[in-house]
Amino acid sequence: MLRTHTCGQLRREQIGQEVTLCGWVDTNRDFGGSQFIDLRDRYGKTQVVFTPQSGSDTQALARALRSEDVVAITGTVARRLEGKDNLKLATGEIEIRGAKINLLNKCQTPPFQPGAEGNELAGEDTRLKYRYLDLRRPEMQKTMLLRGRVVKLMRDYFDELGFIDIETPMLGRSTPEGARDFLVPSRIHRGSFFALPQSPQLYKQILMIAGYDRYVQVARCFRDEDQRADRQLEFTQLDLEMSFVEADDVMSVIDGLVARTAKEILGLEVSLPLPRMTYDEAMRRFGHDAPDLRFGMEIVDVTDLAVGCGFRVFEETAAAGRFVRGICAPGGGTRYSRKDIDTLTDWVRQDFGAKGLAFFRVEQDGSVFSPIAKTFQPEVLAKLVARFEPKPGDLLLLVADTWEVSCKALYGLRKRLGAELNLYDPKTMNFSWIVEFPMFAYDEEEKCWGAMHHPFTAPRPQDRELLATDPGAARAVAYDLVINGSEAGGGTIRIHDSTLQQQVFNLLGIDDATARERFGFLLDALQFGAPPHGGIALGIDRWVMLLAGLDSIRDCIAFPKTQRAMDMMTEAPGSVDPRQLKELGVQVSR
Ligand code: AMO
Ligand code: AMP
Repeated sequence: MLRTHTCGQLRREQIGQEVTLCGWVDTNRDFGGSQFIDLRDRYGKTQVVFTPQSGSDTQALARALRSEDVVAITGTVARRLEGKDNLKLATGEIEIRGAKINLLNKCQTPPFQPGAEGNELAGEDTRLKYRYLDLRRPEMQKTMLLRGRVVKLMRDYFDELGFIDIETPMLGRSTPEGARDFLVPSRIHRGSFFALPQSPQLYKQILMIAGYDRYVQVARCFRDEDQRADRQLEFTQLDLEMSFVEADDVMSVIDGLVARTAKEILGLEVSLPLPRMTYDEAMRRFGHDAPDLRFGMEIVDVTDLAVGCGFRVFEETAAAGRFVRGICAPGGGTRYSRKDIDTLTDWVRQDFGAKGLAFFRVEQDGSVFSPIAKTFQPEVLAKLVARFEPKPGDLLLLVADTWEVSCKALYGLRKRLGAELNLYDPKTMNFSWIVEFPMFAYDEEEKCWGAMHHPFTAPRPQDRELLATDPGAARAVAYDLVINGSEAGGGTIRIHDSTLQQQVFNLLGIDDATARERFGFLLDALQFGAPPHGGIALGIDRWVMLLAGLDSIRDCIAFPKTQRAMDMMTEAPGSVDPRQLKELGVQVSR
């Protein structure tokens, strides 16, 4: 070993010992003829001092050290001078009196300083291009270590519960999870393609049929979809499946994992079972199936009051069977100017397709101001405002529109205003379940039903008849885990009956021949003794992002893709040798 200790290890107990530390030069300062070097590795930082007593050659060498040079330094552990302790460092009571420097490697002037605290963070493209420097930053190292701990905790937890870790293939057939596939051309079978898995969904169901009872895998998934702050082209799931279970069984296994993770990673006690809310209730109260439950500001429906209220837009909306709903922003009347409200109005128009945004400001004396107030019947207006139970200084924001648009716009407003008005402490964590999702969502463009989760999801037994009569009303045995308003996991009880599976395929516009062609193996397997089964997949990247309090999923993945779906460091995707394309029988058209 080149080193005797790490840069985070030494304390007063080691005073007087001769030690050797290895690491990167964090800072190097000259103070009255002495050279003060902070040496850094992933364990911490230690101060090393070179004085004239270190010898002139060594001191000259110390003076020449630059940021990020890699060195081994030998010296003696000493108590820092009176009043010079650095309480921010774990090693802050001691320093090394440097005697010898072994320069292991010089570093070019780095494009940004990985170690320097308080420095402006470099732009994300630069950070990703020089990812090795970015990953050297203590912040990033903290997150990577956290990620490792979270995954270990998950593996241990499922091992204790008797789950078997089984790997499933990367090269397989397309599984419909709703995104575009990444395709891999086969050289041996020209013109045929593998698809990278969007999830191990079908393999894990097959494992249940094979009798593996409790399966778990830390599985890489690939989805060619637009990148967002919480989405990557390739991401990792904690994927599991269980036989002879109902939804409750799967959810309580995950409840246990949530409680253990919260306790061991964050030191938080979470009371179980985690709260559950139906999809319908979530849409009604929050306008979304992954609501942020760290604060209130729930949606209030006043459609019934709109009839004959005097304001034409509201009246017409109610008469057309649409909805007038709104939220009451605490303190929003004081906080937002007319100009701010105009900005919000433009935003809900552009981003959510709302036709407008009506507002009512509750003044300090309890009176209500709104540019449309005079069009209202006074007693209706009073009732409408009262339903929001506002306090002086609050702002009511209302949208009159279809159910979908009012959900989207009010969800967007609630999310934005919740953050802007500091309605919650960003450090709090909220874990909850959303259950009983619709089986299908109607695709207006394609004019057909699509699976809300995936086509292998079982309807609630009492809704089975609805598949034939009113598919839109059928609810699934489906459950999503929501953390702070993010979908952190989702699963369902599966169909284990081939006739029902075929019926669902048909409803989704997959005819018998296509179903045979794409999923024949599943339909066959279901007829060879398929047990009732169900499972879930948790988005590990999102869990780590939320546990670490990060805003971007890219900050908890060692080598992520950019928003533009590229790896900045290796510059992938890149061109390939024409010979490779020829072998694959692939032609590129531009
Ligand atoms: P689903 O598609 O809901 O379910 O995915 C499960 C969880 O994976 C995470 N996730 C993502 N994370 C980062 N980037 C992405 N592009 C991305 N897409 C999804 C989310 C999500 O909740 N096979 C089913 C699971 C099952 O039914 O058992 C599935 O994949 O946190
Ligand atoms: P208008 O009658 O279109 O000038 O709108 C008067 C006010 O009502 C404006 O503040 C609009 O933003 C608001 N408004 C218009 N349409 C809607 C709607 N569908 N929902 C809520 N507010 C609306």
